[in-house]
Formats: sequence, structure tokens, C-alpha cells
Amino acid sequence: MMPVRVLAVASEVYPLIKTGGLADVAGALPVALKAHGVEMRTLLPGYPDVMRLLSGTEELRRWPDYFGGPGRLLAGSHAGLDLFVLDVPHLYARPGNPYVTTDGIDWADNGVRFAALSRVAADIGHGLAPAFVPDVVHAHDWQAGLAPAYLHYDNRPRPGTVMTIHNMAYQGKFAPELIGSIGLPWHAFNVSELEYFGGISFLKAGLRLADRITTVSPTYAKEIQSDEGGMGLGGLLRERSSVLSGILNGIDTEVWNPQTDPHIAYRFGAQDLTFRAANKAVLQQQFNLDSSDEAPLLGVISRLSWQKGLDLLMEAIPTILREGMQLALLGSGDRDLQDGYQAAARANPGRIGVVIGYDEILAHLIQAGSDALIVPSRFEPCGLTQLCALRYGAVPIVSRVGGLEDTIVDIGEADASGHDATGFKFAPVTADALAGTLRKANTAFHDKLTWRRLQRSGLATDVSWRNRAGDYAALYRGLMTARA
Ligand code: ADP
Ligand code: GLC
Repeated sequence: MMPVRVLAVASEVYPLIKTGGLADVAGALPVALKAHGVEMRTLLPGYPDVMRLLSGTEELRRWPDYFGGPGRLLAGSHAGLDLFVLDVPHLYARPGNPYVTTDGIDWADNGVRFAALSRVAADIGHGLAPAFVPDVVHAHDWQAGLAPAYLHYDNRPRPGTVMTIHNMAYQGKFAPELIGSIGLPWHAFNVSELEYFGGISFLKAGLRLADRITTVSPTYAKEIQSDEGGMGLGGLLRERSSVLSGILNGIDTEVWNPQTDPHIAYRFGAQDLTFRAANKAVLQQQFNLDSSDEAPLLGVISRLSWQKGLDLLMEAIPTILREGMQLALLGSGDRDLQDGYQAAARANPGRIGVVIGYDEILAHLIQAGSDALIVPSRFEPCGLTQLCALRYGAVPIVSRVGGLEDTIVDIGEADASGHDATGFKFAPVTADALAGTLRKANTAFHDKLTWRRLQRSGLATDVSWRNRAGDYAALYRGLMTARA
């Protein structure tokens, strides 16, 4: 098998820095690619958390003035990942979340911060680190969107480029004046290149100029070619549909393994699901819910944003209560949703439990102890929590969009598709449709055989990266052949 070298560019990589699923993907894919003959190194910014965790670093390059201050390119490793880290303190040595101030406002210089990341990615593409000259540069989301653009406008022999969309809603839009200060040519400021509604968009740049485009599920790959799903970029994606494909995400099945998980109260395997009851009891305690084995316990682990449809779930709370179900919700994000769920918990002690925050340990316990996991998203490029749920025997209840459509088999469709049912899907994405599906799930829950069958087919589903990484490997190889 011909070895391939790929430089991945991502602004988040688990376990170094994470705000969402992008980090999980960027952290797990390189490890899974090894088996497919792909040597991947990942470039990320030197945020404080990253600098703290990095070990055995080697300084490859030092600049007295990199986009306005001193900077260094480091090579290092962490948790089996080979990394390039762009250590530019005036851009990245800031507290909290990578993108926003502690007041939740986007950093005013985000355009420069992520242009700097893409610039060095392109330079590594040209051979800046002689020990690792990539065949392909793989850019993730808008933060890396300028990497294919720099490589294109540099006008030199270059590696192949792939742009992956994890979320169309974040497009990296900035004022046009940025163009000059980040070293892109003004002649590119036209609507068929970088211009986007009078400004520039880093995502558009990547989508326009990368050799290949991927997104994280086949259904989302179709949805984003519509005007609505494309969120302004549907036309461009329709034009480029011959180089666009959807490759489903997997999860790290070692981090998410109920047989060895150090974060759950009782470990269990696919054959001994009765141990889930003990995790359910601990989960009920932690969320101040009544202890009851008979009440179906619904779990949610999510960012609280419009995308995730949790306002619809809030509307369905009367149904949850009427049906004798319980809810354990872990999440953070929009103030209205946080306040609304906290109020619901206060009004319904013992029945609705809410933890506002980001808590990985609790996320594992919810997967191990809830009977069903709810993901009522308005759009969902792939979604990872429903994959973890399959692996932990929590039955997913999801909206019929994006990767949720592709990863869950609805109870009513089992025979037609030839696959066994693993959960419940609802459409349209409304509070009424969700409430109806919750009622249906409640009936199924009380039919122990049906529920056990759903759990078992979920546990038998392959949610690992093994095969999916092979699709990326084939994409890289195809790109090399096409460019040879
Ligand atoms: P997105 O990237 O859109 O947020 P995904 O489902 O792809 O959605 O990935 C979300 C990831 O973040 C999952 O690994 C999930 O377990 C984790 N997560 C989300 N919210 C929380 C939270 N409040 N606490 C702990 N983990 C969370
Ligand atoms: C995004 C999407 C989510 C996807 C994740 C990883 O944040 O919202 O659906 O699973 O990226 O690809």
C-alpha cells in the first residue's frame, strides 16, 4: 500500500482542546488512519491548554514578527497524536474558549488569528518542515479554510487539498479590508473567488479552492446543496457537487467503551445490560431525580443552540411529565435555554434534572444510565452523541436530518431496510412530532423484549472509525492519483 502523508489543520483536537465534535474527529481520525497506511500530522494553534499538555517539543521555526508579534512553529506529540503547534502568544495565549472572550464575544482579530494558522499550513505544504512534506493538506471547518486558498494563490507546485465541512452555520465572515493584511491577492476579491456578500468568508474560500470537499454524512452532503441547508453557499456546492462527498464520522471506541469506562459507576458489556440499572440509579441521584427503575429516563448531552432543537424538547416537557418519564439534561450555551431548563427543573423536582456546564464525566454517566438519548436537532451534520448512545445501550430518539438520518434505523423501518431497528426518528422537526415519538418510545420501553432488541441492535452497530477512516484514505489516494 502506497504510504500517504497528510497534514490535518484543525482549531480543536481532543484531548488537548475541545468545544464540540470537531475536536473528537480531529483527535480520533489520525489514529484510525494508521491502519490504512496514512501518516497524519495535525496542525493546531498553541492555546494555553495545548501548550500546557504538549510534551517533547522541538522548535522548527522562529519568527520575530508573525502577523504582528513573535511566533514559533513547534513539533510535538500528545496521546498518540503527532502535532505541529503554532505558538504565537499575541494571537492564541488567551483565557477560555478558543473563539470568544470571557464575555462570549468573538475576538475582534479572529480573522488574523485563523489566517495565521492557514498560512503556516500552506508553508508546511511547501516544505517548511523537511521531515514531513505532506501529499495532502486536509482543512477542517472555516478556521482552516484559507489553507487551500493560500496554497492556490502561492502559485507553486503544491500538495492536494481537502476541505471538510463540520458545520455550515459557521462560515468565518470578515470585512474585505482583511485581505491585504493577511497576504491574499486583491484580484481574488470577486464573487467567483473570495468575496461573500461584500466581505470575505474563510469557509467559502476553502470550498471554492480545495480540490475535494467532504462533509460528515451523506445526507448532510445532499442537504447543503439546497438553498436552505447551504446557508448561502448552496449554489457553490451544487456547482462543485462532482468533488463533494459525505463520509460518516465514527467515535473513539476506546474512550467510549462501557466495559472499561473509568467515568461510569458500573461497567458493563453487551451481554450484561442489567448492570445499566445501577448506572441509572447513580444518574438519578446526581440529577436529583426520583429513584425509579420503571420511569424511562431520557438523557441529553448538548450545546444549547438553535441548531440542536432543544427549545422543541422544552415544549414537549408536559408530554414527558404526563407519560411518567424523567429527563436528565447536561448542556451549556444560549442563555434563554439555560434559564428555561433550570426553571423547568425547579418546577418539577424529581422529574426534570438539569446541569448547566461542560462535564465529560457526567456525559459518560448519562450514556451509561439513561434509557434513551434525545437529539432533536434542526440540522445535524453528523452528530456524535447518538453514536456513543448506540455503544452504551441508550436508545437514540433523533430528528430525521443529516447524520442522524444516516446513523439510526427507526423502529418502523427495520424490515424495509433489512437492518435491525436501533431507535426512533421523527419528522418534521416540530415539538408535536417529537412529543408523538416520545409517547411511542414510552410504549416500547414498557415492552421489555422490544426495548432489549433495540438496545442489542444498537450495541451490534459498528460506530468505530475503522471503515470510515478507510474512506478518507481512499479519498487522499484518489487525489494523489488525479494530480500525478
Ligand atoms: P457538536 O459538535 O455540534 O456540538 P457533536 O454531537 O458532533 O455535536 O459533538 C458534541 C461532542 O461534545 C460530543 O463528544 C459530546 O459528548 C460533547 N458534549 C457536548 N456538550 C457537552 C457537555 N455539556 N458536557 C460534556 N460533553 C459535551
Ligand atoms: C459539528 C456538527 C456535528 C458533527 C461535528 C463533528 O460540530 O455540528 O454534527 O458531528 O461537527 O463532525
